[in-house]
Amino acid sequence: MTQIGIIVGSLRQAAYSQKVANVLANLLPVQLTPVFIDIGQLPLYNADLDEDDTVPAWQTFRQQLDDVDGLIIVTPEYNRGMTGALKNAFDVGSKRRNHWKHQIALVVSSSPEATGGFGANQQVRQVLVTLNVFPVQRPEVYLGHVNHLFNDQNLMTNLDTLSFLQTAVNAFVALQAKFDPQPADDLNALAIKYEPGRFYINGENGSTLAEIIFHDQQNKRIMVTNTQVSEQLRGQGIAKRLMLRVIRFAQIYHLTIIPDCSYAQKFLEKHPEYQDLFTTN
Ligand SMILES: Cc1cc2nc3c(=O)[nH]c(=O)nc-3n(C[C@H](O)[C@H](O)[C@H](O)COP(=O)(O)O)c2cc1C
Repeated sequence: MTQIGIIVGSLRQAAYSQKVANVLANLLPVQLTPVFIDIGQLPLYNADLDEDDTVPAWQTFRQQLDDVDGLIIVTPEYNRGMTGALKNAFDVGSKRRNHWKHQIALVVSSSPEATGGFGANQQVRQVLVTLNVFPVQRPEVYLGHVNHLFNDQNLMTNLDTLSFLQTAVNAFVALQAKFDPQPADDLNALAIKYEPGRFYINGENGSTLAEIIFHDQQNKRIMVTNTQVSEQLRGQGIAKRLMLRVIRFAQIYHLTIIPDCSYAQKFLEKHPEYQDLFTTN
């Protein structure tokens, strides 16, 4: 399983950076599994304490870096730079050997200001040079006015921003594939797009070739009401991929799924391992 570590530079509970990170996790194709790596528990780096593994949180963090195959780093901007918490994480992970080495990374900054955390983003990229991490060069992602991008359920509703972030995630996926070539997985995984309430694949003329539709219900539930795949895409496991995207969406946003359409019901019968995420009412 290819795991992508997601690191959020803000420790604030209601951080916009966390909301942005959730969106990016949701936009990853299903063959890349997002793993959130918490940096809030890391004591400030002090080389004197780092001689005989006496700080368990540092060891845990280093192991988490070793276990992932790529990184998405979402940074806010504090005083035109990255947060102290994020810089501390870079320092902890750089010792006693460099646990960041040879990773690839997507760097995203955000801010309520129009400048979108440009200073922090550039500072992160500068640190990545010495850590020998390869960032996605373009698109550069500076999200300004981030306080206007989410609805009251913490979902991003602006379709232009979603589409831009999907482009950035696709560039990251392409870079990851270069560093870690795997047997050709079908490219349709990349073509799955997200809009609030649906994952879908469009044909070249804009027609919908496959989609899964889900609706908000009360009490943090979503109802999957329709899954359909056109004739030309059948037999490639597309419906399953769409369903897995909904499952991951539910995991990221702590939701349960009501399987209302026949495909979702059949999927659940075949995959009881996801039972905990489903409810019948
Ligand atoms: C100590 C501090 C310094 C800040 N400096 C900047 C700054 O240089 N540029 C900027 O765009 N916003 C700055 N801000 C505002 C942050 O962008 C804003 O608080 C943002 O919500 C923080 O990100 P978060 O929501 O992910 O926690 C600063 C905030 C704090 C607390």
